[in-house]
Amino acid sequence: MPPPKYILVVGARPNIMKIAPIYRAFSSRRAGGLNADVLLVHTGQHQSRNMSDDFFRDLGIPDPDINLGAGSGSHAEQTARIMLAFEPACLEHRPDWVIVVGDVNSTLACALTAKKLGFRIAHVEAGLRSRDASMPEEINRLCTDAISDLLFTTEAIANQNLRSEGVAADKIHFVGNTMVDTLRQQLDRALALPLPEGVAPGRYAVLTLHRPANADSSRQLAIILGAINAIASRIPVIFPVHPRTAPRLAGLELHSEIRVVQPMSYLPFLGLLARSRMVLTDSGGVQEETTVLGVPCLTIRPNTERPITCEIGTNVLVGADPERILGAATAILGGRARTAAIPEKWDGHAAERIVDILLHQPVTSSCPVGV
Ligand code: UD1
Repeated sequence: MPPPKYILVVGARPNIMKIAPIYRAFSSRRAGGLNADVLLVHTGQHQSRNMSDDFFRDLGIPDPDINLGAGSGSHAEQTARIMLAFEPACLEHRPDWVIVVGDVNSTLACALTAKKLGFRIAHVEAGLRSRDASMPEEINRLCTDAISDLLFTTEAIANQNLRSEGVAADKIHFVGNTMVDTLRQQLDRALALPLPEGVAPGRYAVLTLHRPANADSSRQLAIILGAINAIASRIPVIFPVHPRTAPRLAGLELHSEIRVVQPMSYLPFLGLLARSRMVLTDSGGVQEETTVLGVPCLTIRPNTERPITCEIGTNVLVGADPERILGAATAILGGRARTAAIPEKWDGHAAERIVDILLHQPVTSSCPVGV
């Protein structure tokens, strides 16, 4: 019998932090004698140096074994290109498990491709629901979870969501958060890096905006930035601009204390978050990172698929309403930030739990459809 084979998929920037600890956990088992093949597949959804390559370098994981080179495009184009390129890779390598993470187009495209060929899927960060089907990520989550054979969750409500959708209890494993594994592994290195010139620890805010609902309309962006301009009159705001958002900034009025910078790689960005006074964001991952770091977070969205960050973490939903954004920021700057706790199992060991569970799955002689 050949050794079991695991394909780990990354596509977009946030996938890299979620896969890295799983890759490492497999590597340390292999160093200890485990006989298993692990292949890293990059779909190429994010392909720029500062959206992808620098993350591999920062996290010390090797270049992908296979790069599908899918690139950008409409949702249909991007999803279809990933599927077309992933199918022959699956057929060539015949994985025992395909492990996908998060909720990006690459997650769904690879899960769908592999499942239709008869390969088993494990979804890391399963069961999160914003109940907002206008978000492409919500569609990706629902569809990926519906076809996954193992579902690894980060918070208890995700288990409830999956059970209420009819997923069998024995497929669902509450393991914690692999992005938090990476954060805990890398925080000291991140804190050793200098901050951008002219800002001091605790004396600046960080802003990220890239959700289509906020970033794809200059009008919407102008409304949000109106509130950020008012905040910037009290504290400098460092704004690493996602490529999706950059074109819409032209022509908008920005306070001189909003410091627009290029997207940052993992370590400098983590170092920036960790030493900030507060973070304003529409990212999913940043809501979780700020909770672990104990940094106040204002989420510029009407909902979150990560409710634990609001229930016990530092996160507050403020929507895209300038008055709420400004009111909540004023409370934080006035010393009225909420106290917070760390969610259960966000302890840096999620990837080890995942690999343990995968290694205990029954071995099946994979019999892919069409082979
Ligand atoms: C994707 C994910 C989103 C995740 C985000 C993190 C989906 C549906 N969305 O959104 O969940 O939070 O990644 O960044 O999968 N671009 C570059 N360089 C790159 C990649 C993209 O310049 O390396 C530009 C392209 O012009 C592209 C745009 O950014 O059109 C958006 O990229 P895309 O992959 O479509 O989605 P994101 O908005 O990055």
